[in-house]
Amino acid sequence: MAEPVTVRSKDGSFMKMFIYNGKYYVAHFVGNVKDHLAAIETMEVREDDTFVLTYPKSGTHWAYNLAGMLRTGKTTYQGSPIFLDYTDIETINSLPSPRLLASHLTFDFMPKQLREGKGKVLTVLRNPKDVMSSLYTFVKKLDHPDFYERYQFSWDGLLEFFMDGKIVYGTWFDYVQNWDKVRREHKENNILYFIYEDMKQDLLSHVNKLAAFLGTSCEQDFLHKVTEKCTFKNMAIDATKAYTPSEQWKTISTNQQLPIYRKGEVGDWKNYFTVAQNEHFDEVYEEKMKNSMFSFRFV
Ligand code: A3P
Repeated sequence: MAEPVTVRSKDGSFMKMFIYNGKYYVAHFVGNVKDHLAAIETMEVREDDTFVLTYPKSGTHWAYNLAGMLRTGKTTYQGSPIFLDYTDIETINSLPSPRLLASHLTFDFMPKQLREGKGKVLTVLRNPKDVMSSLYTFVKKLDHPDFYERYQFSWDGLLEFFMDGKIVYGTWFDYVQNWDKVRREHKENNILYFIYEDMKQDLLSHVNKLAAFLGTSCEQDFLHKVTEKCTFKNMAIDATKAYTPSEQWKTISTNQQLPIYRKGEVGDWKNYFTVAQNEHFDEVYEEKMKNSMFSFRFV
């Protein structure tokens, strides 16, 4: 059963979360954490299920919309992801096929049937400096009173939590190492790996790959339309049109705006990291990523 915990940084920043088996969870994770994790593990997976798995702020909405458009054959904005983490199992079970689900949990926490090769996984990984900058600006935009009571931090404080893993979903480094392990050991071919920076460079080729992976229409005209609809600019416009305050965000945001589509760029971290923070980050990155199969562009 998850226990409440408060972590504090050197400069007095704090975050109130829940801890279970050494991992941190947000308050809106379903139930007591333990039972929901068990329900996810044993849930029935369908052949045409697609799971979008990401570390927070790595392009979850982007991947979700790409996969959703390809799955439905329509270029309609798909909205915010339905997260396994924050949705009870009865609701997940009652969703019509083909289901599109997201999670920030690592692959070892996914349903057993998915780990055995039933259903498909799309994962997007993003360079950690932009993840950190996106996370910082995202949480600063959340303006619900519940939020102020739980989280108060400076850039330095959040960076300390991010590096030490005193944060929901742990460190980015552990998350990517987890995927390295999966890439070495997983025998099924039901996982597709995308890198955010590569998607920015050439979205159309990723749309083609994803369509082939999902086994959906590979009609070039449609794939071009999906690519156009899923540029940062067009998704930001469509998300604003589609936003209603009654969406899931109402529990964390009162400002009536979806705090997701900010800049969608590679390299915005330069506006946040000090020279010293960047040097320290690079040292940690070198060490932790020396055996990784994944590589990232930072500019
Ligand atoms: P920034 O804050 O750097 O702008 P998630 O969906 O995992 O929460 O990730 C949000 C990040 O993905 C935000 O990054 C957001 O702008 C970016 N993003 C969303 N849609 C995008 C798109 N179509 N192209 C590029 N980046 C996108």
